[in-house]
Amino acid sequence: MRTRHLIDSRDYSVEEIKELCLSAEQIKDNLDDYCDACRTKIMATLFYEPSTRTQLSFQTAMLRLGGKVIGFSDASSSSVSKGESLRDTVKIVSGYSDITVIRHPVEGAAYAASLYSRTPVINAGDGGHQHPTQTLTDLFTIYLSKGTPDGLTVGLCGDLLNGRTVHSLINVLLRYSVKEIILISTAELSIPEYLKAQIVLNGIKYTETQDLEEVIPYLDVLYMTRIQKERFRSIEQYEQQSGVFVLTKKKLERAKKDLLILHPLPKVDEIDYDVDDDPRAMYFEQAENGMYMRMALVLDLLKNKKVRSHPVYEAAGYRYCPNPRCISNHEKYLPKLIGGESSGENGHCIYCDTVL
Ligand code: NCD
Repeated sequence: MRTRHLIDSRDYSVEEIKELCLSAEQIKDNLDDYCDACRTKIMATLFYEPSTRTQLSFQTAMLRLGGKVIGFSDASSSSVSKGESLRDTVKIVSGYSDITVIRHPVEGAAYAASLYSRTPVINAGDGGHQHPTQTLTDLFTIYLSKGTPDGLTVGLCGDLLNGRTVHSLINVLLRYSVKEIILISTAELSIPEYLKAQIVLNGIKYTETQDLEEVIPYLDVLYMTRIQKERFRSIEQYEQQSGVFVLTKKKLERAKKDLLILHPLPKVDEIDYDVDDDPRAMYFEQAENGMYMRMALVLDLLKNKKVRSHPVYEAAGYRYCPNPRCISNHEKYLPKLIGGESSGENGHCIYCDTVL
């Protein structure tokens, strides 16, 4: 058994997500009742990568619970700039605080942090890999508008390759009885292979298309995303991909009256400004919901429940993960762990999920 963390969007079951949504709804409706819920607690926010919304919403969540916040929002202002390892930073910080929120540009960093933390760790985004609290926020917004993701046709549009919010959301949608997932992207920015394999494995109906206009009438939820400029090797490659999918009022004329338009934000040019006034555009409410959901999550994790450890093993001869963006190739002391049962065929890197 181990301390409970939120590293991967699948760390909470569908039933537990429902409970978190109910708790977030309670908090939303009775905000002041929670103002002392974490009075003696301290949250550490370690942001190695820029963030506005996520960092502010975690900090506000803790302040609204009556707790306190420490941390940094720029690794160059911490001991990291002196060469301190992630492991040492986390060991120190978890001795100071009750819960740690980490955002890091390298895939698998949050899992690595959880190996050395004495207190719960929340993944607030690890490179292009995962962003599970955004997924909880997305699901909470879907619960509030639609009751459940079951039976819905969900379209995901934009940078499906590098968008970590997309990866986390798909992973969880696979656990519901969604009617269909429609993946709208250029061929270059389609979802990673390991995720496609998961969709197939779960027997979920899915379609890949480059034509947003054609599929828009079928959608119950449209999840727009920004092209992740910072993950491209060159500005030219980014420019080839930007501006391809733009949601306009005109395109929405053919959409369902009760379409739910979501976006993790920040948006750049993928949604016209006049769409913001459409009652179907829920992304600003979604951002606010993120704060209530993070309050619910912090309350839950601070109960310090123990959970079963993920099955992991070390294989003789396994030297390094083939993904250069994996934390295990950056922080060399990390144990080379494979996720899954040792007898299983489909071992994956425990940090970044790359299929081995
Ligand atoms: C997202 C992220 O950081 O991955 N933003 C957020 O946390 N709400 C989406 C993005 O940056 O495009």
